[in-house]
Amino acid sequence: MQEEKVLSTEQTPKYILEVKNLKKYFPLNKNLLGKPSAYLKAVDNVSFKVKAGETIGVVGESGCGKTTLGRTILKLYSSDGGEIFFDGKDITNLSKKEMVKYRTDMQLIFQDPYSSLPPRMTVGEIISEAVKVHNIVPANEVSSHVRSIMKKCGLQPQYYDRYPHEFSGGQRQRICIARALAVNPRLVICDEPVSALDVSIQAQIINLLKELQQNMGLTYVFISHDLSVVKYITDQIMVMYLGNVMELGETKEIFANPLHPYTKALFSAVPIPDPDAKMNRIILQGDIPSPANPPKGCKFHTRCSSCMNVCKFKEPLYVEAENNHFVSCHLYNEEVMNNMDKYEHLYQEYLKEQENSENEKGKNNEKGKKES
Ligand SMILES: Nc1ncnc2c1ncn2[C@@H]1O[C@H](COP(=O)(O)OP(=O)(O)OP(=O)(O)O)[C@@H](O)[C@H]1O
Ligand code: SF4
Ligand SMILES: [Mg+2]
Repeated sequence: MQEEKVLSTEQTPKYILEVKNLKKYFPLNKNLLGKPSAYLKAVDNVSFKVKAGETIGVVGESGCGKTTLGRTILKLYSSDGGEIFFDGKDITNLSKKEMVKYRTDMQLIFQDPYSSLPPRMTVGEIISEAVKVHNIVPANEVSSHVRSIMKKCGLQPQYYDRYPHEFSGGQRQRICIARALAVNPRLVICDEPVSALDVSIQAQIINLLKELQQNMGLTYVFISHDLSVVKYITDQIMVMYLGNVMELGETKEIFANPLHPYTKALFSAVPIPDPDAKMNRIILQGDIPSPANPPKGCKFHTRCSSCMNVCKFKEPLYVEAENNHFVSCHLYNEEVMNNMDKYEHLYQEYLKEQENSENEKGKNNEKGKKES
């Protein structure tokens, strides 16, 4: 009997979600045969893992691939490479039919509580819809199950027969949360769950999510651009830029010791709750390059104040710079930093190649003009 217990504990996966080198490429232009000739790499080689009951924050500027990552994990988008493990099981290539049993385990809370609720359904109908479809509880218990979830989410039982338009933004988001939790999920992807709400309401919803996590043992992937919120609610943070992971580590460690120049700039803007503390804000120069045509080498090099020549042509490796603290930057790659002469030489060769190919292009253009 005892042996069986030990075995089952050992078999329980430590990480409820494990993502390895995940890719999602959107086709851009199509050639004459209808095949894509270029791709927008919205999520490129993203890896992370989350323990059950914990929260990972995904941060980065608009367009860096946060929502695409969330939707690809939930298999709302097909992936173009990499693997997704849920509770130790590889779900990457499961068919729609095979995914059915995981659909309730993984839920999504959207940013906009106004557009994500069907206006002609009552709150009770909205929350009970998936409960009925997936037979979460026997038919005669649906109503009491929904009312109990509503109560947990701070919604009064008399709201059951009311319509979404009768509620404020904060209450609507509570309805969205209740709808997601009514099917007893284990993992919830929260995509900017408070950014459409008034500041005064945001804290209430964040505290509700924290409380529900503790009571229901939930795991969150928390997508946000609000670093103060991320600092409060997450256990680890992943920083993304143009589809790539720039840095990943435990929240305390990332705030105390950010390594990547991009993280340093982003986090320098987070207010410090100490009137005597000095803010050394780093202003990022320039705009985010087009994700359809990202810079060569390090994608961040066009905005990085520490950019070296090697960064302009060589993509940095993703390395564990410190214990459990990963970063994608040449500054933390000993091989690169100890061989600067070699890379300077390679950079000069790269420049020559660029020049030659530009000249070649110019010649071809002139030839084309003459011929026409
Ligand atoms: N369905 C799609 N087809 C083509 N390109 C898309 C699609 N969805 C997203 N993209 C592109 O992929 C990139 C990443 O978009 P995504 O919405 O994931 O970014 P985000 O980090 O969530 O941004 P935001 O903070 O503004 O929500 C963007 O360049 C976007 O234009
Ligand atoms: S690799 Fe170079 S350009 Fe990129 S973040 Fe590091 S120092 Fe900056
Ligand atoms: Mg988004």
